[in-house]
Amino acid sequence: MRRRQLIEIHEQAWCPAAVREGATDCLQLIAVIGRQFRGAVDPLRRALAHADVPRIVDLGAGAGGPWRTLYPALQEATERPIRLVLTDLYPNVSALQAVCAQAPESISFVAGAVDATNVPVELSGVRTLFTSFHHFAPATAQAILQDAVDARQPIALFEQTHRSLAAMLFMVVLAPIAFLAVPLIRPFRWSRLFWTYLIPAIPFVLLFDGIVSCWRTYTAAELREMTAGMHEAYEWEVGRVRTALSPLGMSYLIGYPNEGGEGRKKEGDSVAMSGGGR
Ligand SMILES: C[S@@+](CC[C@H](N)C(=O)[O-])C[C@H]1O[C@@H](n2cnc3c(N)ncnc32)[C@H](O)[C@@H]1O
Repeated sequence: MRRRQLIEIHEQAWCPAAVREGATDCLQLIAVIGRQFRGAVDPLRRALAHADVPRIVDLGAGAGGPWRTLYPALQEATERPIRLVLTDLYPNVSALQAVCAQAPESISFVAGAVDATNVPVELSGVRTLFTSFHHFAPATAQAILQDAVDARQPIALFEQTHRSLAAMLFMVVLAPIAFLAVPLIRPFRWSRLFWTYLIPAIPFVLLFDGIVSCWRTYTAAELREMTAGMHEAYEWEVGRVRTALSPLGMSYLIGYPNEGGEGRKKEGDSVAMSGGGR
């Protein structure tokens, strides 16, 4: 199946915010109940072992993604304290503040825009992208990897979707779960019930965007091809781990600098971090 750079409804400006947030709230609940991101802990530990500083810089963090549950799990699995900095091109400040409140001494966010293709050099540490790499067209995806290599910082990408007919069929099963999940989401919002039971836009967006996400997801072979020219300076690992509720598992790419590689990229502008630890 060829990759297609199709559009997802929740990315469109015309998508009502209540529908967009309702769909992402459902995904977040399913991910938390299924402990979907537990499998990210070991690849992240391997990447952290090659970082100059014990810090994770999450790119395209959205509303915080998996970090509410992943951060405590990662911290428990590592011997030294890990700092986490949440960033986005369009930071959702109130949502990121809420994640930082969980561990204000260790988690912070950048209130200004951080472009994953040009990360300021001050933000050193392991760069992560959760369920977002498939959104980027090949040239931008490649630029994200190249920027990490130029800065000689480790990078780790995680995807829950998979480009196959079986994965698309799984989305057909997953989307109706919204009808069960919506009343359980907190804080409670009437708008979620409206957009699920009266006008079932939230289940429809989960179905449509789920299928499109599968179609856009890079295969392991494509990820290997993207990194093929970057082997001299970097070690790359493409893999897949099992997850509790999804037969698709979670695929990942991690890359980190070889010992004794070239120097790092030029100094950039300083970045102000908010909300806790640095
Ligand atoms: C799928 S969403 C968020 C995924 C989030 N990591 C999660 O797990 O819920 C993708 C995010 O990428 C951000 N984004 C888009 N282009 C970007 C870029 N060039 N650099 C950094 N973030 C970007 C968007 O603002 C959006 O918040």
